[in-house]
Amino acid sequence: MADSAHSTTADTHETGGTRRDFLVIAGNALLGIGAACTAWPLVSSMNPARDVIAAGAPIDVDLSSLKPGQQILVLWRSRPIFIVNRTPAELKKLQEPNDTGLLRDPQSEVEQQPPYAQNWHRSIKPEYLVLVGICTHLGCIPEFTPEPGGTLGPGWPGGYFCPCHGSKYDLSGRVFTGVPAPYNLPVPPHRFVNETTVRIGENPPNVAWEFGSIVQI
Ligand code: FES
Repeated sequence: MADSAHSTTADTHETGGTRRDFLVIAGNALLGIGAACTAWPLVSSMNPARDVIAAGAPIDVDLSSLKPGQQILVLWRSRPIFIVNRTPAELKKLQEPNDTGLLRDPQSEVEQQPPYAQNWHRSIKPEYLVLVGICTHLGCIPEFTPEPGGTLGPGWPGGYFCPCHGSKYDLSGRVFTGVPAPYNLPVPPHRFVNETTVRIGENPPNVAWEFGSIVQI
């Protein structure tokens, strides 16, 4: 578990679902973020105090109750962080040429992630995706839209849709071509402190990578 001097554990709560069950962890700081773009339900607050979190303290998130196909949202440095437990079918789709051919930077060549997430799943463990949930166009919070097809059309593979100006990202946060957003969604520094606990804000051992080197938040 986390060293309390450097991190905090976030509580998780489940809200009423829409297409899928949806978990939200949020602090009051999210009010200022969500109000401008997307109405996120607020469920709980995190400890320690918001000013400590905002200053950059790592946070530990227990993923043991996060089921395949679900997303949770936490705050780190006052930013919304999406954490998704992707299903085997979703992981398979992320590698299909018909879908990756729709992406602007499928190999994540632009530094929008740490080196340990520069891979097709943009994460450490393929099933667990960790993203900064801020659109790289003008900063709205994209909507988790994991189901293929639907209102986004038969070619929609599932991912994130930003309703502000129509930007689309796949379930690795890779941006589509032909949309206003120029870059993939950022991946924050993170590591697993045990099988089901991820620490946001800290690299794996022996990795020195600065979040500030991200090209665009
Ligand atoms: S802010 Fe997301 S598309 Fe413009």
